Amino acid sequence: MWAEEELGLDLDGWQRDLLRSRSSRILLNCSRQSGKSTMAAVIALHRAIHRRGSLILCLAPALRQSQELFAKVAAFYRDLGRPVAPQSEKRLSLGLENGSRIITLPGSEKTIRGFSGATLLLVDEASRVDDGLYYAIRPMLAVSGGSLVMLSTPYGRRGVFYEEWIGGRGWERFEVPASRCPRISAAFLEEERESLPPFVYRQEYECSFEETEDQVFTTDMIDRAVTDEVQPLFGSVAL
Ligand SMILES: Nc1ncnc2c1ncn2[C@@H]1O[C@H](COP(=O)(O)OP(=O)(O)OP(=O)(O)O)[C@@H](O)[C@H]1O
Ligand SMILES: [Mg+2]
Repeated sequence: MWAEEELGLDLDGWQRDLLRSRSSRILLNCSRQSGKSTMAAVIALHRAIHRRGSLILCLAPALRQSQELFAKVAAFYRDLGRPVAPQSEKRLSLGLENGSRIITLPGSEKTIRGFSGATLLLVDEASRVDDGLYYAIRPMLAVSGGSLVMLSTPYGRRGVFYEEWIGGRGWERFEVPASRCPRISAAFLEEERESLPPFVYRQEYECSFEETEDQVFTTDMIDRAVTDEVQPLFGSVAL
């Protein structure tokens, strides 16, 4: 496989499956530090080199994260010995002589509106990206016939990543808890389990969509509170 032979990566099982996937809609619900951003960079670079004229947009919630993602792309490109010559190498974008471009952007609806014809869109930390961005992306892909890959650690039971994960159609899904990551030791996880609040541990390492941090009442508490079986104390109030 390309990433192993050319980049010298020793891929995890799920990483190999992901890179082999032919699906054009992929969701990855992964533990922290499992290799999401690394995979986003590999996918972007592989596509840019092997399909001329690709426009690949890599989105992340904030500038710092898109810079990190781009740094990974640039490092792999250097490791490969620049197989297709660069046309322009800027702070957050790489243009190749074969007409392909990789552009990393902090994900907001405004930044994305200027780009049309993306052939591949990668959204890192997708659970923390504004929903508005997702709604701006979809029509763009419809026109270009492009692919969409969203990679994330969960972040509460709300937002597009959550909604698509639990009920969206047409997605290939990958779930990668920390226990399946060979670089995260059982001893480290035990330490984390002891020092983090349980819901944070489940979210960060066990792919679990927990109640949102800022939600004072859990969905479950609210559901129980509004059950039909409870009769109002003072009769019903006409609204
Ligand atoms: N197959 C692999 N072989 C060796 N190292 C790997 C592999 N995949 C990822 N890594 C390394 O694991 C570390 C975490 O990778 P990466 O930053 O891609 O994870 P992440 O899931 O994006 O993490 P975070 O949740 O913090 O954003 C990096 O040092 C990366 O180089
Ligand atoms: Mg990352």
